Amino acid sequence: MPGDVITRRGFMGLTLGAASTALTACARDSDPMTSVDAILAGTCEPPPPDGTCTVTAQDIEGPYYLPASPERSELDTVGDEGVALALSGVVTDASCTPLLDTIVEVWHADPSGAYDNSPTMNYRGWVRTGVEGIYAFTTLVPGRYLNGDTLRPSHIHFKVWRDGAPVLTSQIYFADDPQLDDDPWAEPARTVCLERDGEGVSAVFDITLA
Ligand SMILES: [Fe+2]
Repeated sequence: MPGDVITRRGFMGLTLGAASTALTACARDSDPMTSVDAILAGTCEPPPPDGTCTVTAQDIEGPYYLPASPERSELDTVGDEGVALALSGVVTDASCTPLLDTIVEVWHADPSGAYDNSPTMNYRGWVRTGVEGIYAFTTLVPGRYLNGDTLRPSHIHFKVWRDGAPVLTSQIYFADDPQLDDDPWAEPARTVCLERDGEGVSAVFDITLA
């Protein structure tokens, strides 16, 4: 719902009704682990902070969004096999002032490239930013799925909800994913490095609201 002005209360009041609308990615990457290996084999390094905050661009919502996901920071609730991903960042305004009390909601495919459209809402959830504007999720690296006859790169959908502001709807991508060049929505400003982090990986994506 890009462009809509929705209060937090309105967001929280959304019902689970749409969850019964089953949408299933019909074809997926046959080897999601290979996808992660390809990304990690790249040479991506996060750019050093430059003290500026460029407003995060909108991206398509896609067909798999469900309203009324639960408040939770751990998104794999069923113990899937996959590569652990720690995703975090800071939400700021365009002057780089951290925005607290702001909801960051994410949803993404499981490691095999399928969305959970059941009431369990695995890999769906939201958190509220704290005093430093920080948000953080732990999850598994999303698998790819076919859009038409082309695999979409691994990606994480997100919405940012702040009282009185338009909802930001967008997507995060991972550098060195071989499917980036074929994807009409991925763009460098929303493409982050995956870095090895213990047994898993981590990524930092800062969000700037207009
Ligand atoms: Fe998607």
